[in-house]
Amino acid sequence: MIIYLIGFMGSGKSTLGRPLANRLGYSFVDLDEQIETHSGCKIADIFAQYGEEYFRNLESQYLKEIAANKSNLVVSTGGGVPCFNNNMELMNASGVTIYLNLSPKMLADRLSNARATRPLIASKSSDELLQYITQTLAARDEFYSKANVIIANPSRDVSQIVTVISPYLDGKHSLKN
Ligand code: S3P
Repeated sequence: MIIYLIGFMGSGKSTLGRPLANRLGYSFVDLDEQIETHSGCKIADIFAQYGEEYFRNLESQYLKEIAANKSNLVVSTGGGVPCFNNNMELMNASGVTIYLNLSPKMLADRLSNARATRPLIASKSSDELLQYITQTLAARDEFYSKANVIIANPSRDVSQIVTVISPYLDGKHSLKN
């Protein structure tokens, strides 16, 4: 079983993904880290040197490799992954998708000190950041809302996610949309 955590930058996908994998006895993969390790290049440098489209293609390439995996995995995806190259369909077809849904204000608070490594927001002021999040989240909603499970204001304790996904793990809930 593959569990994909999706959501905007700062929604806690990596922070929750690691303990979730531990709790379930699954392996953990962070897609951004996977890209950086394999390319030997930081995400910000990939954007700067090759542009966003190149990065989006890398994301899809590594996502396909992960989706073909037969082992138990928790995957933390970059915030844009569901919105490009039919990645959302691939994730829904190969596992359970969980959308960590936070308000623009909460995301802006969390991201205000975590801009530097994220090229899409690195140069934004606090006002610009909130505006960017509000607009981008609205545009991404049509993709994020295709998730199998949506958790609004997720708690920092993984027990909540474990409870919500247990029907999928027990096979009581069909994976097909
Ligand atoms: C992005 C989110 C980032 C990273 C890249 C682009 C996005 O990942 O993939 O900077 O488009 O939202 P996180 O969501 O893990 O910060």
